[in-house]
Amino acid sequence: MAIVLGIESSCDETAAALVSADRRIIAQRIASQDDAHAPYGGVVPEIAARAHAERLAPMIAAVLDDAGLELTDLAAIAATAGPGLIGGVMVGLVSAKALAMASDVPLIAINHLEGHALSPRLADPALDFPYALLLVSGGHCQILRVDGVGRYRRLATTIDDALGEAFDKTAKILGLGYPGGPAVEELAATGNPHAVPLPRPLKGSAEPHFSFAGLKSAVLRAKESGAHADADIAASFQQAAIDCVTDRLARALEQMGPVTALVVAGGVAANQVMRAALEAVAAAHGLRFTAPPPALCTDNAAMIAWAGIEHLAQTDFTPAPLDIAARPRWPLDPAAEPVRGAGYKG
Ligand code: KG4
Ligand code: ZN
Repeated sequence: MAIVLGIESSCDETAAALVSADRRIIAQRIASQDDAHAPYGGVVPEIAARAHAERLAPMIAAVLDDAGLELTDLAAIAATAGPGLIGGVMVGLVSAKALAMASDVPLIAINHLEGHALSPRLADPALDFPYALLLVSGGHCQILRVDGVGRYRRLATTIDDALGEAFDKTAKILGLGYPGGPAVEELAATGNPHAVPLPRPLKGSAEPHFSFAGLKSAVLRAKESGAHADADIAASFQQAAIDCVTDRLARALEQMGPVTALVVAGGVAANQVMRAALEAVAAAHGLRFTAPPPALCTDNAAMIAWAGIEHLAQTDFTPAPLDIAARPRWPLDPAAEPVRGAGYKG
């Protein structure tokens, strides 16, 4: 039974995990850097890279120890090679290269977005290709059609902020701290989602792309007006964001052809109100709905190890060369047209 070591270090989570081809997470360790970045209201790349460098090596030793395995027992070492904050990505990828070289185990360079895109298949053995994927995190906001391993068609991206970023900025405006998503969801549960009139940017537009910058500005104005309770602002923001997502998703589903399921992944997929709204979209389109458990939605190394397992199973699998470069940008669908305004989030 093939076992793959996964390494994740592209943002503010340092993680290592061992996953087997029969979908067992044999061991995993994850260290969040939330406390280190909280005073700044967002991730500081230099602080992140240092924290990864300090934590990763002992973490890898710990998961191997937990499982009672040696490096030479592994079928491959899979590391996130981009996209993300380059200092952190380099820490993880260089570590993986060193271990692969020392133990003569194949290296697999994983696109972090592919980790999110395939993670639902780790949790749900019945999930078959092709499926529609809504990928919503702090750095990314995309709708993809997943046709198979390495075969992704991007139908939509954001022209400004990612959805998780919009939650984080709203949290900052409301003084809720970082990361903001869970705090906004908690406060929103006590507010009225229709109390504050907020825009739904791009709702109804022909292309299924996203925009959240105008919504964030409107949240700021609502807060500064002093006319609304924070809970009402949080609830109204969450409702506006979800309305945008369901509208854009419905448009993308019209354009992508038949799929087996609607899948949501990425940190924002942990939001229960969003999940309920997405379930309704799936039902309206006659699709099965699936979302990985919250711990697999936010950044983790099990999804990177699993993507490695999926690559190993391909008939044309070849290990990555040991001089492969870390990539700050790495689109999942290289053929996707650039969208005006979309930068690294595309
Ligand atoms: O996938 P992830 O862990 O890291 C990135 O690749 O970005 O996603 C983190 C993002 C943050 O913006 C966080 O605020 C958001 O996911 N998030 C949430 C919730 N939990 C995490 N957003 C809304 N509701 C939540 N419950
Ligand atoms: Zn992520």
